[in-house]
Amino acid sequence: KQIYKCIEVTLVEQETVGLIVLNRPEVLNALSEDLMHELVDALRVLDSMQKVGAMIITGKGKAFAAGADIKDLKDKNIADIFMLEFPSKWNDVSKIKKPIIAAVNGYALGGGCEVALMCDIILAGEKAVFGQPEINLGTIPGMGGTQRLIREVGKSSAMEMILTGSRFLDAQEAYQRGLASRVVAGSNDELVKEAISVAAKIALQSRPAVVMAKAAVNSAYELGLHEGVKKEQALFGATFALADQKEGMSAFIEKRQPQFVHT
Ligand code: HXC
Repeated sequence: KQIYKCIEVTLVEQETVGLIVLNRPEVLNALSEDLMHELVDALRVLDSMQKVGAMIITGKGKAFAAGADIKDLKDKNIADIFMLEFPSKWNDVSKIKKPIIAAVNGYALGGGCEVALMCDIILAGEKAVFGQPEINLGTIPGMGGTQRLIREVGKSSAMEMILTGSRFLDAQEAYQRGLASRVVAGSNDELVKEAISVAAKIALQSRPAVVMAKAAVNSAYELGLHEGVKKEQALFGATFALADQKEGMSAFIEKRQPQFVHT
């Protein structure tokens, strides 16, 4: 039974994959505060579920998300922004331990682009459009866009996107720039099917090894090369305390499939 109003959550692939659909298609899945609370809550619940190995976020209709809900934002004052959870709570998406795949089916603008950037893998549907149009509204990205976009597309493109508000990337460009891992041709359903297939592959792997791998890769965002490599080595070493590491390597040598126990 759904307890959420702005999103739909289902478990697929023998309940190993959590599928979250942003469900406000009448406003192109604009990211209201209610939606933010529901999405962060759903991700945390899925993150804590032993059986779940990966999550997917996608949007219903022609948008992934066309940004923060401008009606919510319009009358906020500076005290609201600093005192309330919005927008700081959005960053909680980046604190989820298990992998999140963004299946970007259409517009990923403003906060929508920033939510995709907080995910670990972006699969672009052929109608995907990425952009940061906040400057047209007299404001700037506020959910990490100025920090994360530059790391994906480089300074010059990020600046052009953020400063003009009208330089958008289509699916092919997003793929060519490394923002998306690939473009999936066909309908939204086909995109979600592909995302489920990627998530299911991740869910077959050792959960703790996957979580350590995600943490190690994300260190490249947060640390310099020297510190990042040290963190990777520590996490690599930690995998040798896992039963799953012994099982994975034994299975390779014995030429059989591993039976991971996720410890
Ligand atoms: C509220 C929105 C919305 C948004 C679209 N809608 N985007 N409502 N917030 N971000 C609503 C429209 O008002 C309209 O409602 C309905 O969705 C359909 O949108 P249309 O504009 O009619 O569709 P279309 O002509 O296809 O144009 C699509 C679009 C355009 C190009 C994506 O909707 C657009 O430019 N949207 C705003 C994109 C944007 O500026 N995003 C950044 C937001 S600020 P009605 O009632 O008229 O049918 C942001 C800040 C992040 O994200 C940081 C926060 C901390």
